[in-house]
Order: sequence, then structure tokens, then C-alpha cells
Amino acid sequence: MKLTRKVTALAMASMMVFSMAACGGDSAPETTTAAASTEAKADAATDAATEAAKETAAQAEASGGAGGNIGVCIYKFDDAFMTTYRNALQEILEGKGYTVTFMDGKNDQAEQNNQINNFIAQGVDALIINPVMTSAADQIIATVKDADIPTVLINREPTADQMSAYEKLVYVGCDARQSGTMQGELILDTANKGDINGDGKVSYIMIQGDPENVDAQYRTEFSVKALTDAGMEVEELDLQRGDWDRNKGQEIAQNDLAKFGNDIEVIFCNNDDMAIGALQAIQAAGRKVNEDIYLVGVDALDAALNEVVNGNMTGTVLNDANGQAQGAVDAMEALLGGKTYAAGEQSIYVDYVKVTPENAADFQ
Ligand code: GAL
Repeated sequence: MKLTRKVTALAMASMMVFSMAACGGDSAPETTTAAASTEAKADAATDAATEAAKETAAQAEASGGAGGNIGVCIYKFDDAFMTTYRNALQEILEGKGYTVTFMDGKNDQAEQNNQINNFIAQGVDALIINPVMTSAADQIIATVKDADIPTVLINREPTADQMSAYEKLVYVGCDARQSGTMQGELILDTANKGDINGDGKVSYIMIQGDPENVDAQYRTEFSVKALTDAGMEVEELDLQRGDWDRNKGQEIAQNDLAKFGNDIEVIFCNNDDMAIGALQAIQAAGRKVNEDIYLVGVDALDAALNEVVNGNMTGTVLNDANGQAQGAVDAMEALLGGKTYAAGEQSIYVDYVKVTPENAADFQ
């Protein structure tokens, strides 16, 4: 994805202030100009000019230039899908002239709490937060409410009840139930509806994301529900958490293929990165996707789209990073424009799309 980089000198300066604060600096942002140090010696005219320049710089800094200062907290940078999402956010926000600073929560809620507090101390105009833990949502929401900062939560959805505590807060994401259902449908669309050995049941392993995350819970539940709703019998051979991680997906699939062998007809992965890992194990075990085993993921990462086209994955589900990033920025701008959200209306959803070899090229 091509990034548009529009970083002005002013933006650079305020980004430096942000990073200093993020590294543990506890002093308030300070702008020192060369003119200020010579102020005492300057004559009246120069004084006036200096004051005017300082005032303009202060105003510009306060508003972050044309677009304002935006702080973005990502649960961890080292996540394939959230990297795509982060790049999309950066392109859109910078393209609109915002000064944007991204922080890596490193999968540590305490670290992310500090980052949120630092952003608030720096006086950002709005926050976009991908929480590390949805169970921390109450605390995050209380913090941003207390600071009166318009906030968009992304990717990890709190409950409607939690969000109702603050009217300048909105969640932009997807309804994870939909992606699970689509994964089940991808299996139902195969020639034998997933029952490769014809024993009357679909035997599967489930490689789950981080189970604290509602995406993992719903995808696990609704992928299988789609099969049972269609009248299929199912047998769960194994369910293990792979934490959205490729290596863990590979390890789990490798162990299960050794243990259950040809009994495994379907590998459901809550995301593509784990599915790519599982594919490595499938190939190492001499199995062939779409012939003696089915494999589905979610996200439509570029690597997964290639595997769908090549017949090495049965299908995936588009998790629309661009659509969600655009939705998040739209919601943020609505909040900045003074819009408030009533309880029960604080979740904005972008649709998932089923991806098969027929339409995969549309998303590449
Ligand atoms: C999901 C996505 C996963 C992972 C997770 C992080 O929506 O499918 O790949 O990025 O979000 O919360």
C-alpha cells in the first residue's frame, strides 16, 4: 500500500515532543525558538515580530496545523492484519493533513494505559484506540471521558453498556459473527460440504485467536454454527488458542496432523496469519488442500489471497482494513465536529466479504 507522507516541520517537531513523552518524559511540551533566546537583546520591532511568530507557532501547535493532532494506540505493531490497518489509517489521516502519532502497545495493557495518558497530557485533539484487552475498556473509557477527548475505539469491541458511559466515544469495526458464518459457508460450498471421507460428519480442528477477543469467540462459534444450521453433523477434534500468530498456527496444525492424521477434514483458523502457518504444516505432512483437507481463514491478507488463488486455501473472508480505517476517520471527524452518540448507537460496522478463487483477484 502506498503511503502519502505529508510531514511538515511543525508536525515533525510535535511528533518529537510526543515520542519524548512516550519514552517517559514527564515535562509539558515546550517549544523553544532561536528567536526567543535573543528576545532580551532585540529592539521593540523585533520583539513584536518575535512575539507574533511565537503566538502563531503556539496556535499552530495547539491545533496541530490544519488538521489537528491525533494519537493512535495499536494493541501491538507485530500483528499482520493490524499492520495493514495501521498503514491505511496513516495514509488517510496524513492525506487529510492531520499530525498523527502511532504507539505500539506491545500487547501490554499497562503500557498502553501510559501511552493514552501521555497523549492526553500532550493535548491531542482526538484518540483512536485499538485496546490491548477489551476487559480494560471501562478504564480506558473512564480515562478519555475524564479528559474530554473524542475517541474512536477500533478492532476490539467493548459491550454497548461499557461504551454508553461516554457520549463522545464510538466503536468502528465489524460484526465478527458474520465472518464466522462466512467461514462455515465456504466449507458448505465445497463438493462434499466438508465431509471428505463420507462418514456423515465434518471433523475439524479450530485454531483460535486470542480468546479474550470477541472476534475469536464469535468466529469460533459461528463458523461451526453455519454447518450445524445447514444440518451437518460436526466433530471437534481439537480447539487451541493460536493468539492470531502464524508460528502458533503452524505448531498447532503440525501437532494435530501428527495426532489425528486423515481424520482432520477441515482446519478452521480465526485469521489468515494462523492459516498460513497451518498451510505450512499441511504441506509438510504431505496433505493437499481442497483434495484431502480444507483450510479457511479471515482477513484476506495478500499472502492468503495468493494461496486462495493457487488453491492452497479453500477461502478466506475480507476483513476490510481500508473500509474500517475510513470509517474510523469519518467517525473521528464527526466527533470533532461536535457529534455525540446515544447509548446503543455507538457501534459502526463494516461488512465482511467471502473470498473464493473466483473473486480473490478483486482484493489483491
Ligand atoms: C482481528 C483480525 C486478526 C487480528 C485481530 C487483532 O479482527 O482478524 O488477524 O488482527 O483482529 O485484534
